[in-house]
Amino acid sequence: RVWDGPLQEIYSPLPLRRGRELLPRLLGRAPQLDRVSALAALDAAGTAFDEGRGRWPTCGSAERLRALRDLRAGLVARRDEILTLLMWEVGKSLAEAAGEFDRTLSYFDETCADLQRRARDSATLVAREGIAARFGRAPLGVTLCLGPFNYPLNETFATLLPALAMGNTVVLKPPKIGVLLFRPLLGLFREIFPPGVVNVIYGEGDELLPSLLETGRVDVLAFIGSGSVAQKLVRAHPRPLRLTAVLGMGAKNAAVVLPGADLDRAVRECLLGSLAFNGQRCTALKILFVHRSLAETFIGKFLEAMARIRQGMPWEKGLWITPLAEPERPAYLHELLTDATAQGARICNSDGGVTTGSFFAPALIYPVTPAMRLFHEEQFGPLVPVVPVDDFAPVDTFLQDSDYAQQISLFSNDPAELAPLIDALTNRVARVNLNCKCQRGPDSFPFTGCKDSAVGTLAVSEALDVFSRPTLVAQRDG
Ligand code: G3H
Repeated sequence: RVWDGPLQEIYSPLPLRRGRELLPRLLGRAPQLDRVSALAALDAAGTAFDEGRGRWPTCGSAERLRALRDLRAGLVARRDEILTLLMWEVGKSLAEAAGEFDRTLSYFDETCADLQRRARDSATLVAREGIAARFGRAPLGVTLCLGPFNYPLNETFATLLPALAMGNTVVLKPPKIGVLLFRPLLGLFREIFPPGVVNVIYGEGDELLPSLLETGRVDVLAFIGSGSVAQKLVRAHPRPLRLTAVLGMGAKNAAVVLPGADLDRAVRECLLGSLAFNGQRCTALKILFVHRSLAETFIGKFLEAMARIRQGMPWEKGLWITPLAEPERPAYLHELLTDATAQGARICNSDGGVTTGSFFAPALIYPVTPAMRLFHEEQFGPLVPVVPVDDFAPVDTFLQDSDYAQQISLFSNDPAELAPLIDALTNRVARVNLNCKCQRGPDSFPFTGCKDSAVGTLAVSEALDVFSRPTLVAQRDG
């Protein structure tokens, strides 16, 4: 509906230069909903879910497939506008913005293909012990979809699509950075879905989201972001056992460079893993354990490669380092650097940590020890801590002590070195990467984590299960 209440100002992380001064750049304004309006959106989603036969939750997959395909077509038609917003609002390079957009389209395609397969399978009768049964899936109810600022389109859609595909109704709140991005989509949601099926709310998450959960009328919380916010939201629900929570949270993924590593490859992957999109990825490599015998050469090669990375505005060609999206991040990264250097580590590249407004030059820090905050805390920015190790024991202790357990990368060309580690590590983290960086994709692979890194699994097929429950219609023969 048309909003005539207060507006919030949305600023870009891309600075406005006036002479030598860097000024904040106002990008636009978005509605600042109060609790009453946010609760009205939840009501609309609840009513649309309860409405009964033939409406979204029961209309069947043919109608839902049509709607998802229309939504995909609408996205494609708005590609340029969306990429521009990803650059201006989140500071993503054009290549990364295009990557995020295109993988979202693939997510649509794979979800639709899976939905079609499921529709075929659900027609099959299963007979066992004199009972004929037809299995199906039913939606769970009202889903609250909350994506993160670093993948505001792709990871919001990674929950929105399966939720809608399985017949749920949705309240969606854009991340605090990436708000304007949803404006070109509002008209699409309105045109394609019946009233109340997709409701977009804007405003202060701290204030609005707990109020929604406190009503007990959110059936699914799909949240990707910080663990502390996730805990607060789950705890706000009066009956948490009735809440299905799908949570993607923090991580401190390690790379381990073993004596048998191909160093050029390890450097290439570790560089990409730690610095792509300025390290603002939950899957980024956030600590590198390097065998002491290789450490000096590894660091030399890493510094050479790092010096070639270009820093600039998102639309410039061939760069990775763009302004940091979160205004408070540079100060936090400096705290970690000060703590590490005070305890004996050094910044190995001369411009490491140099900050100009929201530009932050990547820094390689060595030798990092367990006494330093950077060893444990999730930097979510372009700091690359390197820890020299003589064997696997310090990595073991790191994994044991960490609150996170998402992925790990092992580098070695020696199968005898890798084999004993792989089985042990698959029981401790969700994905073991061999001679490659950590990452979420391909998006059809299960994406999850252990400990405080995740609850539930996102991936095309798994997500369709997560956002639905099994149904069974059974009949005794004769
Ligand atoms: O920030 C967390 C994202 O899930 C990372 O995804 O590995 O594709 O960059 P990515």
